[in-house]
Amino acid sequence: MKLLITGGAGFIGSHVVRLFVTKYPEYQIYNLDALTYAGNLANLSDIENAPNYTFIKGDITDAKFLEDMFAELSFDGVIHLAAESHVDRSITDPMSFVMTNVVGTVNLLNAAKNSWVSTGGFDGKRFYHVSTDEVYGSLHNPEDFFTEETAYDPQSPYSASKAASDHFVRAYGNTYKMPVVLSNCSNNYGPNHFPEKLIPLMIHNIQTNKPLPVYGKGENVRDWLFVVDHARAIDAVFHKGKLGETYNIGGFNEWKNLDLVHLLCQIMDRKLGRPEGTSAQLITYVTDRAGHDLRYAIDANKIMNELGWQPSLQFEEGLEKTVDWFLANQTWLENVTSGAYQSYYKGMYANR
Ligand code: NAD
Ligand code: TYD
Repeated sequence: MKLLITGGAGFIGSHVVRLFVTKYPEYQIYNLDALTYAGNLANLSDIENAPNYTFIKGDITDAKFLEDMFAELSFDGVIHLAAESHVDRSITDPMSFVMTNVVGTVNLLNAAKNSWVSTGGFDGKRFYHVSTDEVYGSLHNPEDFFTEETAYDPQSPYSASKAASDHFVRAYGNTYKMPVVLSNCSNNYGPNHFPEKLIPLMIHNIQTNKPLPVYGKGENVRDWLFVVDHARAIDAVFHKGKLGETYNIGGFNEWKNLDLVHLLCQIMDRKLGRPEGTSAQLITYVTDRAGHDLRYAIDANKIMNELGWQPSLQFEEGLEKTVDWFLANQTWLENVTSGAYQSYYKGMYANR
């Protein structure tokens, strides 16, 4: 099995690459990543010399590059995670989301289709598109959950671009009979999370005594899943998921933002030896995000019942692990927040 994983230098992708490289030594794993601001090869330093692992620097918006790469390497499978992923950035720069998430995904579909059609067809091949629960929009009734049948209703430029990419993947499955499978996951957290997102940003700001910016009143609800459990779910969907199907992934773990920030403050006070209540004083209410989705909540019964996947960690345990990881990996955090990680790896791969 020659497997292409895109976006493997990012947060979730790096956990997926690690899982596949270590669990499947018989597979050749290729990690294709453009190393944007969100890509950091330090996330994979522990497996970078594994014999079944190869890094390729490249951009999925470059169709010719993808065609050449598929012609040379003849992949059997694709797990597609490369994307622009931050809602706030999509509000200030929507076009980069269109380019990577929509155009990049269609480029990748074309490259895989052309390569597979010209080398004997789709038998034994698989194109797996990793997506988000944000395509379903915002829930307002507390009893509602997103199921695989929920109609798409994206509300941010990010979720609109991911919804468009999901539609293209399904359209290629229907029109060209490409062997596609999809999953839509809730918010992830864990080691290597880029500190522009809520949980790592709060951990970093608590540690450095900076204000904790809570958007609006902090009443928005997110459904959190430990990143390694998402990687395990991706393994299950890639190997056992039915072609043409979609699987929602989540751990039935909803938290109001303000409650979550308070919990993080408590954990950090304990870890840093600060008197209880110290870090919570840093909470600062700031202007709400434009078009801020109120609530996301995933119904994960299908993947649990059909593929036997279950989250392995309770949230409090996962948060402790996450906080411990950030406190033990100060160099990683400093390199990311200072930007040093970018010049290091950009220099290393500049000529590829
Ligand atoms: P991330 O932003 O941490 O990483 C994205 C990776 O893609 C980076 O390594 C980046 O360099 C790479 N990339 C970006 N543009 C590229 C391009 N044009 N060509 C090649 N590589 C490019 O994102 P993440 O949080 O790890 O999310 C990964 C995937 O999972 C995304 O598709 C996202 O939509 C989806 N997802 C994320 C979450 C979440 O909570 N973070 C939840 C559900 C689904
Ligand atoms: P985020 O981690 O950006 O993920 P997403 O927007 O994809 O769900 O944000 C999670 C929630 O936290 C979301 O409701 C916005 C809120 N938030 C803040 O209140 N303050 C912040 O500084 C950030 C980054 C997010």
